[in-house]
Order: sequence, then structure tokens, then C-alpha cells
Amino acid sequence: MAKQKILVTGGAGFIGSHLVRLLVNKYPDYQIVNLDALTYAGNLANLTDIEQKDNYTFVKGDIVDADFLDQLFAEQNFDGVIHLAAESHVDRSITDPMSFIKTNIIGTVNLLNAARKSWGDFEGKRFYHVSTDEVYGTLGETGLFTEETSYDPRSPYSASKASSDHLVRAYHHTYGMPIVISNCSNNYGPFQFPEKLLPLFINNIKHNKALPVYGDGKYTRDWLWVEDHATAIDVIYHEGKNGDTYNIGGHNEWKNIDIINLMIKIVDEQLGRPEGTSQKLITYVKDRAGHDRRYAIDATKVKDELGWMPSLQMEEGLTRTVKWYLENSEWMDNVTSGNYQQYYEQMYADRV
Ligand code: NAD
Ligand code: TYD
Repeated sequence: MAKQKILVTGGAGFIGSHLVRLLVNKYPDYQIVNLDALTYAGNLANLTDIEQKDNYTFVKGDIVDADFLDQLFAEQNFDGVIHLAAESHVDRSITDPMSFIKTNIIGTVNLLNAARKSWGDFEGKRFYHVSTDEVYGTLGETGLFTEETSYDPRSPYSASKASSDHLVRAYHHTYGMPIVISNCSNNYGPFQFPEKLLPLFINNIKHNKALPVYGDGKYTRDWLWVEDHATAIDVIYHEGKNGDTYNIGGHNEWKNIDIINLMIKIVDEQLGRPEGTSQKLITYVKDRAGHDRRYAIDATKVKDELGWMPSLQMEEGLTRTVKWYLENSEWMDNVTSGNYQQYYEQMYADRV
């Protein structure tokens, strides 16, 4: 691989930290610059094992600040951008859509503009936008999202990601910027902020707190081990076709209540509690507004064209995930102190 300087945005978040770790360790000749605003979801504790590496630099900054980005791009000669920085939680997008518009849409355009201004004729450059399958909307009992599925976003989060996908494609068609986009299903694994289903429930089971299951619990998600997402991004960044979109998924659909039951079993087992102890914590609560019923990805294209496939089965991945959260209680205690308590109170007070 030719030497490269890559800007990863959102590298202190959940998926970003796994990607930065992979790139820093796999490509010692590359320079990896991690730009992150360190919002509630960004945490440098996710990167302690690589922070001293020579090929890694952290820059604190906000992608909503266009002047800051222009200056950064003028100073650094980036060969590529892998853009993950975003507001990422659907429930927060329902209570505060504007912060999603700012970061996910305006922030993405600011990045595209900064890259365009500094990249001249685009020779050897690449802008990779990391996106979600939620842009496709919701599925019924059958069918899968393919790269040809029409966009039909239904939450402020997915609408903001759809909008940023469109803008990235527009910069490709209008200005000739080399781009690639991937739309991935739900990720799980270490370092995920405990607002998302799995880490929130693992933490609640540990503390014997209610497990707030939205609606009838039969909503379906297609789960992917986060390190598999990072390897997919690596392959697509290096080998994906200019201008193309790739769907990434685990071929691993679960109804929420089924994955919750499996998780309760694994957590109880690892805590040495008798089987079924934490079943009583399941609490059906008021549904999420506009809750998408089912997501499921057809990941044939990335497999056939680039040879990528998920590596881990769910039971193994979930066992590793639970083990990580239980062994890293300091990480969990740190991120659930302070503002998290207020968030939890606001989000769940009238639900549970
Ligand atoms: P996350 O919320 O854990 O991390 C987001 C990161 O972006 C944080 O480090 C945060 O500090 C940073 N950030 C937020 N606003 C910023 C700003 N204005 N300027 C600079 N940095 C900012 O999110 P995640 O789950 O790691 O998701 C990363 C990306 O992958 C997002 O674009 C998301 O839409 C996409 N995605 C996530 C999933 C999933 O299951 N989590 C699935 C598919 C796609
Ligand atoms: P989430 O982790 O928020 O991911 P997304 O909404 O992006 O798919 O939620 C996953 C599923 O779990 C979704 O169907 C909503 C449901 N859910 C609950 O039932 N209770 C909760 O407290 C949370 C956070 C999610």
C-alpha cells in the first residue's frame, strides 16, 4: 500500500475507535489523524492502547465549524477522509432534531467543501462516507435492503444521514470528487455508549434495573460485530469502486425480545446468577415514535466484489461483548456518571 495520510472523523466514538485501532495497527506507514469533537459519545478512553503510536494523531474539533476545517485541510495534506462523525442515536434525534441537522448535514457539507478546496484535481484522493441502513426506511416481514432500494428515511436521524448521503453523491456527480459510501446495519461490541440497546441493557441487568422494551418487542434488527464493520470499511476504502455504494450487514436478524432473552442468559451466567434471574426485569414500555419495524441487509455486493464477510456468530459476539462490559466497569461507570443520569431520567421517566 502506498503511504497515505487519512483523516478519520468521529474516531473517538464507538465504531470510529475500532476503525482507528485497525488502521493504526495494520498500516504503520500511514498517518491516521482522528478528528473528534468529544461530544458525550466521544471518549479518548476508547483509544488508550494506540494513543502513543507514531502514526496516530488526535485533533479535537467540531465539523460544524467550517473555518476550522478549512484551516486543518490547508495545513495537512490529507489523501483521504473516512467520515464517521455524527449524532447517532435515534431517540435523541426525536427530542433534539436540530443537533442532527447541524452535525450530520451541515458538518458533512463543511467537510466536503474543505476537501474540495484543498484537493485540486482530486488525483489519488477519496472521500468515504460511513452511513446507515436506516436511510432505506423500514421492511415488512420479508425482503432485504439492497443498494438499489429507494431511500425512505423516517426518523430525524435517518433523514439527516440520507441527506448527507445525497450530498456526498452530489459532490461526486457535480464536482467529480472521488467518493464511496457504505450503509451498515446495527453494530454491537465494546465501547458502545449505553444509550443503545445492548450496552444499556447489560448495564441495567448488572444493576438490577428495569429493561425498557419498546412496544411489543418484536422489532427486528440485523446485528453486526463492530470489528467486522471496521474490516469492511478498510476493504471498501482501499478497493471499493469510485462513486459506488456498498451495503454491509451480518445476515443476522433478531427480534429485540429474542436478543434480549439471549443477553439476559449470558449476563446472568457471567455474573454467576441462577439462569433466568433477570427475566423479571423485562418491562414493556411506551413505544418509540415512528419506530421502524424491521431492518435487514443484503450484503451480496460487498461479498462478491470485495470478498468481505462477517467473521463472528451472534452467540460468540454477544458473549465477548458482555464479558468486555463486565470486565470494564470503570469505563461504564465513567460514561454513566454525570450527564448520563439526566439523559436517562428524561428519556425513560415517563416510559418505565
Ligand atoms: P457514536 O455516537 O458512538 O460516535 C460519534 C462520534 O462522532 C463521537 O466520537 C462524537 O464525539 C463525534 N462527533 C459528534 N459530533 C461531532 C462534531 N460535530 N464534530 C466532530 N465530531 C463529532 O457513533 P457510532 O455508533 O460510532 O457511529 C459512527 C458512524 O457510523 C455514524 O456516522 C453513524 O451514523 C454510522 N453508523 C452507525 C451504526 C451503529 O450501529 N452504531 C450503524 C451504521 C452506521
Ligand atoms: P438502538 O440500539 O437505539 O438502535 P436503532 O434504533 O438505531 O436500531 O435500538 C435497537 C432496537 O432496540 C430498536 O428496535 C429500539 C429498541 N430499544 C428498546 O426496545 N429499548 C431501549 O431502551 C432502546 C435504547 C432501544
